[in-house]
Amino acid sequence: MEFQNILTQTEGAIQTITINRPKQLNALNKQTIEELSTAFKAAEANGSVRVIIVTGTGDKAFVAGADIKEFANFSVEQGAELAQKGQDTLFNLVERLKTPVIAAVNGFALGGGLELAMSAHIRICSSNAKMGLPEVSLGVIPGYGGTQRLPQLIGKGRANELVFSAQMIDGNRAEQIGLVNHCVEPEALMETANKLATKISRNSPSAIGFAIEAINAGFEAGTNGYDTEIRSFGKSFGTDDFKEGTTAFIEKRKPSFTGK
Ligand code: CAA
Repeated sequence: MEFQNILTQTEGAIQTITINRPKQLNALNKQTIEELSTAFKAAEANGSVRVIIVTGTGDKAFVAGADIKEFANFSVEQGAELAQKGQDTLFNLVERLKTPVIAAVNGFALGGGLELAMSAHIRICSSNAKMGLPEVSLGVIPGYGGTQRLPQLIGKGRANELVFSAQMIDGNRAEQIGLVNHCVEPEALMETANKLATKISRNSPSAIGFAIEAINAGFEAGTNGYDTEIRSFGKSFGTDDFKEGTTAFIEKRKPSFTGK
C-alpha cells in the first residue's frame, strides 16, 4: 500500500512504522491518523509480524501533537468528533492490538504524540526527547486518551501537574516517573527498541495477545481483569503455542512458536 505520511519497513518479525511529516514535526493530521490505522491493522493481520515499532522521522520529533492547523476553527461538535474518531481509529486500536507495539520516542512527543506513545504497550525514549501534554496552553484538553492513560502510567498527582502546567519533561525524568520503560542515548534508541522487539518476538504470539487482553481488561471500566485473566489463561491451553512451549521445555530445546 502507498502511504504519503508514513513509512513501513519489515525486517524479519519486526515491522517499523515511521511517521514521516518532518516539516510539520510529524504532527498527526487526519490523513496521517488514517494511514497509521491502516498500517497497524495490516501489520496485525500479517502473521509473520510479531512486534511493531512506531517512531518519527528525523532527530527532532516523534510527533509534536495533533495537527493544530487542522482543528483551529472547529466547533464544539467537530471537536468531540475529532477526539472520538481519533480514539476509535488509532489510539484504542493500538492499545488493543494483539501484536505488541513499542514506541521509540526520538524527540518531541507532545499532545497527540505522547498520547500515541502512551497507547503503545512499551515506550523507549532518547535522552533528548521532550514529552508533555501542552493542550491547556491552547485552551483545550488532551483528546486522544491522555487524561486517562497518563494517570495510569505515572499516577494522578503527577499527571495533574503535567497536564495543568503544560510543562515538558525530558527523557531521563520520563524514565524516573515511569512514563517510559527506558531512556537511552539518541544513537542507541533504535538498536535498543529492536533488541527488545527481538526478545519479545521469540515468545508465543498467542500468549502475548492473551496477556495484552488481560492487562488491558484491568483498566477498562466495568470489566473484571481477574476474570479476563482466568478466561485467557484457559484459552491459552487450547493453542498450538502451548503444546509447543511445554513440549520444548520437556524436550530441553528452544520452542518454535507459530502464534496459532
Ligand atoms: N500541529 C501542526 N503543526 C505543527 C505542530 C502541531 N502540533 N507542531 C509543530 N508544527 C509545525 C509548526 O507550525 C512549523 O510549521 P511551519 O514551518 O509551517 O510554520 C513546524 O512544525 C516546525 O515547528 P516550529 O517552528 O514551531 O519548531 P520549534 O522548534 O520552534 O518548536 C515545538 C517546536 C515546541 C514542538 C513547537 O512546534 C510546538 O509547540 N508545537 C505544538 C505542540 C503542541 O501544542 N502539541 C499539542 C497539539 S494539541 C493535541 O495534540 C490535541 C489532542 O490531544 C487531540
